[in-house]
Amino acid sequence: MKVAVIGSGGREHAICKSLKKSSKVDKIYCIPGNAGTDSISKNIKIDLKDFKKIKDFVLLNKIDIVLIGPEKPLVDGIVDYLESYNIKVFGPNKIASQLEGSKTFTKNLCKKYEIPTAKFGIFENSGDALNFLKDCDLPTVIKADGLAAGKGVYICNNKEEYIIAVNEIFDGKFGKAEKILVEEFLEGEEMSFFIICDGENYKNFGTAQDHKRVLEGDKGKNTGGMGAYSPSRLESVELNEKILNRIINPTLKGLKELNTTFKGFLYAGLMIVNDEPYLIEYNVRMGDPECQTILPKLESDFFEIILACVKKDLKSIDIKWYKDKCLCIVLCAKGYPEIYKKNIEIENLNEVNLESNEFIFHAGTFKKNNQILSNGGRVLNFVVRSDNFQFSRNAAIKLINKIDWKDGFYRKDIGYKVID
Ligand code: AMP
Ligand code: GLY
Repeated sequence: MKVAVIGSGGREHAICKSLKKSSKVDKIYCIPGNAGTDSISKNIKIDLKDFKKIKDFVLLNKIDIVLIGPEKPLVDGIVDYLESYNIKVFGPNKIASQLEGSKTFTKNLCKKYEIPTAKFGIFENSGDALNFLKDCDLPTVIKADGLAAGKGVYICNNKEEYIIAVNEIFDGKFGKAEKILVEEFLEGEEMSFFIICDGENYKNFGTAQDHKRVLEGDKGKNTGGMGAYSPSRLESVELNEKILNRIINPTLKGLKELNTTFKGFLYAGLMIVNDEPYLIEYNVRMGDPECQTILPKLESDFFEIILACVKKDLKSIDIKWYKDKCLCIVLCAKGYPEIYKKNIEIENLNEVNLESNEFIFHAGTFKKNNQILSNGGRVLNFVVRSDNFQFSRNAAIKLINKIDWKDGFYRKDIGYKVID
């Protein structure tokens, strides 16, 4: 069968790699892809905002299934659009994608279905927000309502910080802001929790721990993710039950009552406070870099799982996992998440020999005349699966050292909570 993967990050390279292993997959297209996907699939340069061109390409090439990686096209309704041309798509529709696209949509759902989450207020102008903040406990959390690539969140420790946050958001730093969210600060340990859904049934799809801050020791600015490991050290049967019963099931029920369903990956960003799960945010896709740590642990045929979802037959599939652990370190361009250079050659990449448990997933890279150049902030992902996080981290760092990219940097402490 023919599959098209939409996106160009490390997540999409990992997805292409997993699809490639399936004997049922004859051809993979990646739209637009990166230098990594280029080596295992055919990259197709189409602007992801141009749904019509994507649709024309899919129909012309008789592609059987389209899998959507990133949030933006989902929130903009690509699934509804492609399905209206009878194209089979793995990913949630526009209404369900509001779980990620609108924090107020999710917060209101939490309120209605008593889903545990941080206490919050929603404001439409800076005056009301600042007035409310006067009486809030500090630290407090301030968020832009729409999509902000993990960057529209401020943890404010004092008045100066919250004034800056409110003004920056309303001044449009993360796009046009009509609403702002002020949230209670939750103190605990984060966990990324994934399920896969076919619109009727769902199954667990692993857990992971991301590292969102740019500097070691979880300091500095928020990023898209500097590294991750899977599984989360918090995973347990009891916690899993609580998450499904108190968070996932009521959410899916809420969508049903809106006359819609969820098909795709649902990623709950949780804060675990004294063994109790609180929802921080939903994402309607796999996490990046969490995906790069979860897919290498999958023993079952990934494509068969996706196919079953598209056929609403997920219950017929038994998803099998390797018992191993997996850790990913992201190599970024110096300056990320602020200003960084692009178009810098990464030499030595082709000289690195990988063992069967080692993976290099490309993110912000492209190929030009047989050279591999950087074109993003997060550039490469180094992933090692083993029975031991420490081993995986050391092995990932060894791979990074082999490449020895002078214009890059990475966190050497990924996994410190389970290692050091
Ligand atoms: P979000 O984009 O909503 O996932 O927020 C980005 C990051 O900010 C999260 O991964 C947390 O580390 C942090 N964060 C967000 N909301 C809260 C909260 N209510 N309490 C504590 N930390 C939070
Ligand atoms: N790793 C965070 C995200 O994918 O949103």
